[in-house]
Amino acid sequence: MTATELNFHRRLSVAPMLDFTDRHERYFLRLLTKETLLYTEMIVANALLHAGPRFLAHNEIEQPVALQLGGSDPKMLTECARIVEDAGFVEVNLNCGCPSERVQCGSFGACLMKEKNLVAECVSAMRAKVKIPVTVKTRIGVDEFNSWEFFLDFIKTVASAGCDTFIIHARTARLKGYTPKENRERPELHYEVVYRLKQELPQLNISINGGITTLENAKEALTHVDGVMMGRAPYANPWLLANADSLIFGRKDSSPATRKALLEAYLPYMQQQLSEGCPLSIMTKHLYGLFSGFPGGRRYRQILSEESPKVEATLDVVRLAMNAVSE
Ligand SMILES: Cc1cc2nc3c(=O)[nH]c(=O)nc-3n(C[C@H](O)[C@H](O)[C@H](O)COP(=O)(O)O)c2cc1C
Repeated sequence: MTATELNFHRRLSVAPMLDFTDRHERYFLRLLTKETLLYTEMIVANALLHAGPRFLAHNEIEQPVALQLGGSDPKMLTECARIVEDAGFVEVNLNCGCPSERVQCGSFGACLMKEKNLVAECVSAMRAKVKIPVTVKTRIGVDEFNSWEFFLDFIKTVASAGCDTFIIHARTARLKGYTPKENRERPELHYEVVYRLKQELPQLNISINGGITTLENAKEALTHVDGVMMGRAPYANPWLLANADSLIFGRKDSSPATRKALLEAYLPYMQQQLSEGCPLSIMTKHLYGLFSGFPGGRRYRQILSEESPKVEATLDVVRLAMNAVSE
């Protein structure tokens, strides 16, 4: 895929989310939107090197898919980037925004914002070995390092190593005192900082992330930056992506006409996965939010969550759940 094509897809992306954006979720979302760039969950470099195939498995239909790495060792990351490229992913992204303690112990994620030269070294090493773009997902600051100057200096340093695409979660990360969940809700969002970055460094491709819940909001943000990344909203309500191809990309929507038709279209994939030994509940957990607010929506969710984990569960569970809801 050319850089121009990839930048087109970057106009809207679905965020990397641990335990959420696995291959089953990505396949499901792809039935709703052909153009949106999808991200994998963060994959720790060390884990990828030791158990690669498990993390790299995906279906061609999911493309375009970017893979996110967690790590801070230039050699290891470079090795990973090559594996990622060979596996067919269109981009490799370095996580410099995750605040979890587990991640800090491994010295990667948001704490890397305090180590701009190391990040630059990692980017430069990866870029030297792969053709796919190496991008960075980060925040606007970390702990007490929350000034505009700090943020700009971090971006400029990493950009000088050859990274021309940044995804910015528009809040600072607090490494102490907040849980990872709190770190996604607090402190407050500062979209203006991300917009200013695009103004000052217009040559960079900048995506904004954090708290964007509708395609209308995404469209508005696109008047300031190159891309919008959405995480929790499309997970909780996947149907919001049904109009993404027309609204954001100016292309024809290809999503099924109804939510039930969407589920029908997903059934053959689930059947195939079941036959390969994948437990039903791993796939159905991504479907919980599809009928929120509809009559029978609660019952639908209850059936999926209670019946799918049973050992003998088949697709009849999904059909039963579907029958419980009126669209
Ligand atoms: C369950 C969950 C897991 C996440 N895992 C990752 C991850 O693996 N890598 C990452 O960079 N961000 C991760 N994030 C953060 C999201 O990518 C995103 O930056 C954040 O949720 C803000 O965007 P939103 O308000 O649109 O959800 C995660 C968020 C959630 C809710």
